[in-house]
Amino acid sequence: MSTIPALSSGDVTIRPIRLRDARALERELIDNRGWLRQWEATNPHGPLSFDVRASVRSLQANARAGLGLPYAIDYKGEFAGQLNVSSITYGSLGCATIGYWIAERFAGHDVTPTAVALATDHCFFGLGLHRMEICIRPENAPSLRVVEKLGFRYEGLRRRYIHINGDWRDHFCFALTVDELPQGVLRRWQDGQAPTEDATVPPADRARASIPLRVPPRR
Ligand SMILES: CC(C)(COP(=O)(O)OP(=O)(O)OC[C@H]1O[C@@H](n2cnc3c(N)ncnc32)[C@H](O)[C@@H]1OP(=O)(O)O)[C@@H](O)C(=O)NCCC(=O)NCCS
Repeated sequence: MSTIPALSSGDVTIRPIRLRDARALERELIDNRGWLRQWEATNPHGPLSFDVRASVRSLQANARAGLGLPYAIDYKGEFAGQLNVSSITYGSLGCATIGYWIAERFAGHDVTPTAVALATDHCFFGLGLHRMEICIRPENAPSLRVVEKLGFRYEGLRRRYIHINGDWRDHFCFALTVDELPQGVLRRWQDGQAPTEDATVPPADRARASIPLRVPPRR
């Protein structure tokens, strides 16, 4: 964990999550239940116990194994949410996935795009990864706006891709490779150079996502 650096831009800092964040984390998860539930990853095999300290420990173990970067997001020094880099793969794939949330009272201040830009740049230029991916439910307009702001490139629709809020949900997937932006994501966005049109989802994919995939009933 000590090798994961804290990174800041303006009022936003991402830093490795610690066990002593558990109390603030639990309070935000409870206070923001309605805000987060619709977008929360769930277990397809039934509910897991809600143990925040165990979840922080598990993220830290994952980080020690080199598979993830579990960040807390701070805004003006206050715990505001989480950003997790997961599924880190080195070698010929050189890829990772980003997920995030913030408490409702911090929404709309560019906190998440700043956190995503900081994490992506660290993965590209600190860890040497080649590709970063973000997958978002078609209904999640605020999150789609995050990738649009940063100029992530739309890559496609994945049907019933992640188990969210109790069922397998379609996701729109977005990515960037380091080759596309030698100046980094944060610099490009702050310079007003992010190609926001790259995140546009073609109408055909929007239409496909609105039609549920036919799944035969289980015997
Ligand atoms: C998606 C999310 C992380 C965006 O974070 P953020 O820090 O607010 O990001 P931004 O400041 O860039 O805002 C993005 C858009 O959200 C919308 N937004 C702003 N304030 C909002 C609020 N209070 N309520 C709902 N939407 C709001 C705006 O459309 C904004 O775009 P704009 O800046 O062009 O107006 C945040 O809404 C969130 O945590 N949502 C619940 C969990 C979630 O969806 N996680 C992502 C799963 S893929």
